[in-house]
Amino acid sequence: MVQVAGKSGNSSIVLHRAAELWHVTSPAGSSGTIRRGRLGDRFRFEAISDVGLAVDESTGRIIEASAFSVAKAHHPGARVIDHGDGVIVPGFIDGHLHFPQLDVMGSHGKHLIQWLDTFIFPAEARFSDRSVAESTAARFTKELAANGVTMSVAFSSVHPVAADVLFDAFEKSGLRAVVGKTSMDVNAPASVLLECSADIEAQEMLIKKWHGRQGRLFYAVTPRFVLTSSPTQMKALADLHRRHPDTFIQTHISECEGEMESVAAAFPNARDYLSIYEDYGLINDRTLLGHGIWLTDSERERVAGWGATVVHCPTSNAFLGSGLLDLKKTCDAGIEVALGSDIGAGTSLSPWATMLEAYKVQALRSQPLEPEALLYLATLAGAEALHMDAEIGSLEAGKYADFQVISFSKKPLLAERVACTRSAAERLFATVVHGDDRLLKKLYVGGQCRVDVEHGN
Ligand code: GUN
Ligand code: ZN
Repeated sequence: MVQVAGKSGNSSIVLHRAAELWHVTSPAGSSGTIRRGRLGDRFRFEAISDVGLAVDESTGRIIEASAFSVAKAHHPGARVIDHGDGVIVPGFIDGHLHFPQLDVMGSHGKHLIQWLDTFIFPAEARFSDRSVAESTAARFTKELAANGVTMSVAFSSVHPVAADVLFDAFEKSGLRAVVGKTSMDVNAPASVLLECSADIEAQEMLIKKWHGRQGRLFYAVTPRFVLTSSPTQMKALADLHRRHPDTFIQTHISECEGEMESVAAAFPNARDYLSIYEDYGLINDRTLLGHGIWLTDSERERVAGWGATVVHCPTSNAFLGSGLLDLKKTCDAGIEVALGSDIGAGTSLSPWATMLEAYKVQALRSQPLEPEALLYLATLAGAEALHMDAEIGSLEAGKYADFQVISFSKKPLLAERVACTRSAAERLFATVVHGDDRLLKKLYVGGQCRVDVEHGN
């Protein structure tokens, strides 16, 4: 990497030069209405070779992304950071993952409900201990950054201390995050339950302390799923969200058939799974629903009508044998869709791996996804789900400079593969197939460098 001082030397503008830039933007003239159409109509792919990404370090925002010669002419006094053969890509958005499951990824051989009982509840019980939460949170945020994830939507455990510690770790890391203290008060061991009034009191404190902090950290009201919250708790959580309507709501829905049977048995009078959340007032355009594989046509139509998001977690769905999301049907119904790792059921924190699995899942349905659609799902789609697409998710002027610089040199197979590609979309797809954390050279959030692999940070 070569740094060249700008002519004026006192400009706050930095010009990041790289071999190429890939991102997806909203299609020109998109209305931004909540009823959305086909996946392929939701974005426009843009690739710029020998790019100059002009960033105002005083605001952390992008001024322009153009050919380097053009950007240089517009900002002759800018300091140039030359990333050589690097490719600039937006920071990834992981729309669904579980902080206290980091160290139980790869727990073998069960379907969802037995997996929760056997591995997950005992693992999450350890997060009542501040020191467990602290050491895990430091590694969790480091792993996310190493994988190019600049915004995460994370479930913490039921314990207030763990969520507080996780927020603190995200604040120190400089990353963006939405965090929720998971709420559960029935149907699990006492070590992962919290009685309703203490649960709400703790969340009021977490919201007051963290929600909106530095414009980077946000709170999500987080009922785990309908099987582990009493009616009293569900109602209290909906009331909490009504008191703080700019928080988010995250939960799980219709992930696997065994769960569907348990829900039908526990709620014999419910019209369907979604209606349970609807009846409590937990579904709106700030709700992120993990999975949604087994939604009915009626439920899909209603999710779209509410403007809620389905977060697709393909490595998790394959790992637990939960099913193959029909992404086309989900999008055609008008539902917002984002992408999540869902670790610890998910098998990788790398969004490249999640994109590849999304591709494979749709290939198994004979609906292979375009590489541009995969990049959309891992970036702009998550920003749209969070109503943050004016701020993050692509590298357009005015947005925060959340981006990664990747290089193919640490993956010789990928380097050879991209050498014989003819288009940016082909290079992108090769990167989806071969990509992992070895690609990352640098990570910037709001224009500030948060990971610099060459210099050991
Ligand atoms: N449903 C309820 N809890 C969980 C969880 O922790 N992971 C997954 N994949 N599904 C769930
Ligand atoms: Zn999950």
